[in-house]
Amino acid sequence: MKLLEGIQKEHDEVRGLFLQIENDEERAAEYFDQLAVLVLSHHEAEEQVVFEQLPGDKESKELKLELIAEHDNVRRVMQVVLDTDPEDDHWAARCKVVKEVFAHHIEEEENELFGTLREELSEADMDKLYKKFETAEGKAKPEMQKMVKAKMILKPEHVLPLSLKDALDGEKKPAPKKKPATKPAKASAKS
Ligand SMILES: [Fe+2]
Ligand SMILES: [Fe+2]
Repeated sequence: MKLLEGIQKEHDEVRGLFLQIENDEERAAEYFDQLAVLVLSHHEAEEQVVFEQLPGDKESKELKLELIAEHDNVRRVMQVVLDTDPEDDHWAARCKVVKEVFAHHIEEEENELFGTLREELSEADMDKLYKKFETAEGKAKPEMQKMVKAKMILKPEHVLPLSLKDALDGEKKPAPKKKPATKPAKASAKS
């Protein structure tokens, strides 16, 4: 199998798992755990093997950072589901949010990332890289299984983006006093 086919196949597997979650309430939480392990290992392998293949131009660098930021985001919304009791009505709604965030992410990969990699890599590269991708994913899986089982998939760096944390830490000034709200007088219809 070649790299992009392998990635596509896993995206489709995740799409399938979301359908199973929606159609089988009894086993939804079990499917979600499977999905979380697959998504986290897939993301790890992409970050280690795939994104590195992007060229060094500004646009590609920005794409890479955006895709990594989306991985972090998917991780955070999955953590919210893991923190929710599957019996709770919020569980399915929170799961739907993961589906939406993930759908946006894979759409971007299948359109933008795949397009750029097709231009950059030969067929032989694609073969070799798929093997590397599978190996990286296989290596990541046991740790991801452990984290999902423990229901804690966030590492400190995922809790809050560092830049945002710095901005918040640096904010020592008290919030400016709010001006009293002044509603503009309504213009009366009749004058
Ligand atoms: Fe990804
Ligand atoms: Fe992906």
